[in-house]
Amino acid sequence: MGNHAGMFFGQFVRHPWRVGAVAPSSAALAARVVAPLPDTGEPVVVELGAGTGVFTDVIQERLSGRGYHLAVEVDAAFAALLRRRYPRVDVVVDDAARLPQLLAARGLPLADVVVSGLPWVAFTAGRAAGTLAAVASVMSPLGALTTFAYVHARWAPPARRLHAELAHRFEELVLGRTVWANLPPAFVYHARRPRHASSRVDRPESIVDESEPVR
Ligand SMILES: C[S@@+](CC[C@H](N)C(=O)[O-])C[C@H]1O[C@@H](n2cnc3c(N)ncnc32)[C@H](O)[C@@H]1O
Repeated sequence: MGNHAGMFFGQFVRHPWRVGAVAPSSAALAARVVAPLPDTGEPVVVELGAGTGVFTDVIQERLSGRGYHLAVEVDAAFAALLRRRYPRVDVVVDDAARLPQLLAARGLPLADVVVSGLPWVAFTAGRAAGTLAAVASVMSPLGALTTFAYVHARWAPPARRLHAELAHRFEELVLGRTVWANLPPAFVYHARRPRHASSRVDRPESIVDESEPVR
């Protein structure tokens, strides 16, 4: 099957800031980011920044025909590859920040699970905050979002801003253990229960950090 690493690197050379990584994520990281997918029911699953489909593959396997899988990918070449590989996935070439409009256009209800591969650290602060706000605004009350960050960049300002934004937008935030079998090593943010503006109440944030210090 392969993870199309050559094509991924080619797109990175063309659009380094947009792609944000030199290689696709590993299977080990994919297994962690899809953890919140339910084993039953018909969930609406949204994938942001799907690239060559490392997460798409595992999401499709877990859903095995259930629910609705929308993949939002800004790169037309990646989207064309995804459409060929995953005919059951609704692949749209668009900006993740337009998720509310994309769901509405399809008559879809709120998203139950959002799996993000977006290169947050390559976004400006305003763009990252705006994108996260838009995504959280169309998630179901018990919805879950996963996204990952690279361990070496964990304390850099963009990564700290992402952490703060996630803690602000979601009631629960859990940082997973380091996935060493990824290039570079990464960890997963598990965010649950979006704080919608209409129902937001001032409650203390629940943050659990299971990640390990950098060795
Ligand atoms: C770090 S790669 C991750 C790809 C894949 N999920 C993986 O883990 O191997 C980031 C992906 O996000 C896409 N992307 C960047 N900005 C985006 C945006 N605003 N909306 C949708 N996709 C975006 C890039 O084209 C790229 O495919």
